[in-house]
Amino acid sequence: MSAYPTAVSIDIADYLFEHFSSEDVFLTQLRKEANQEDIPNICISQEQGRFLQFILKLMKAKYVLEIGSLAGYSGIIIARALAPNGKLVALEINPKHYEFFSKKIEEAKLKDIIELHNVKAIDFLRNYKPDFQFDFVFFDADKVSYLDYLELVLPLVRVGGLIAADNALLGGDIVANGEVEEPHNVEAMKKFNLALAQHPQLFSTIAPVGDGLIMGYKTQ
Ligand SMILES: C[S@@+](CC[C@H](N)C(=O)[O-])C[C@H]1O[C@@H](n2cnc3c(N)ncnc32)[C@H](O)[C@@H]1O
Repeated sequence: MSAYPTAVSIDIADYLFEHFSSEDVFLTQLRKEANQEDIPNICISQEQGRFLQFILKLMKAKYVLEIGSLAGYSGIIIARALAPNGKLVALEINPKHYEFFSKKIEEAKLKDIIELHNVKAIDFLRNYKPDFQFDFVFFDADKVSYLDYLELVLPLVRVGGLIAADNALLGGDIVANGEVEEPHNVEAMKKFNLALAQHPQLFSTIAPVGDGLIMGYKTQ
C-alpha cells in the first residue's frame, strides 16, 4: 500500500488488456484495417474503452456526443454500452476518417444508433439544437478548441451528466518542466484540466486510465 498510485507497468497493462478490455475481434480488425489505410493509431486504449463502457452503463447513458471519431474505435465502444434506443452523435472533420467509420457503422450494424457527421466540430456545435439532453460528452479532437467546446456543450448536457476528455495526462507532459513534444497541446490541456477542476457547475476528477481520462460531473 502506498499514498501514491501504482505505476502501470507493461505487465500490469497486459493484465488489464487480458481481463478488462473492451476490444473484441471486430475492433481488433478495425484497428488493423485503419492501420493499413494509414489512419493514425491514436484511438483510446482497450482498458480505457472498458472504463468508458463501465461509466456509461453505470449512468444508463442514452445520449452521447463524441467530438473526434477517427476510425470509429471509441465510437463503436460507446455505442455498444448505451441504454436501449440510445444515440451517439459523432463529429469528425477528416473525410477519410469519416468514410472509414461510416463503413464500420454499417458492418457493425449500428446504423440506428450512431449518427456520424463530417463536420468541423465548432461549426456544428454553434448551430446545434438537439431535442434531447446529452448524458455524456467525449472530447477527443483538437485540444486547443476544448474550452470553446466546453462553453457550447455544457448547456446541452443534463444535470447529472458528464463531460470527459482523453489525454488529460499527455504521457506525463502535463507536469513536465523541460521540453515537451507538443507544447500547444500541453498548454491547451493544462488550461482545460484546470477549467474543469475549477468550474462552478462541475465536480471533476482525472482517472489515470490510459493517457488519463478527465471527467466533469454537471452538478447544476
Ligand atoms: C485522437 S483522434 C480520435 C480517436 C477516437 N476518439 C478513438 O479513440 O477511436 C482525433 C480525431 O479528431 C478529429 N478532429 C480534429 N479536429 C477536429 C475538429 N475540429 N472537428 C471534428 N473532428 C476533429 C481528427 O480528424 C481525428 O480523427
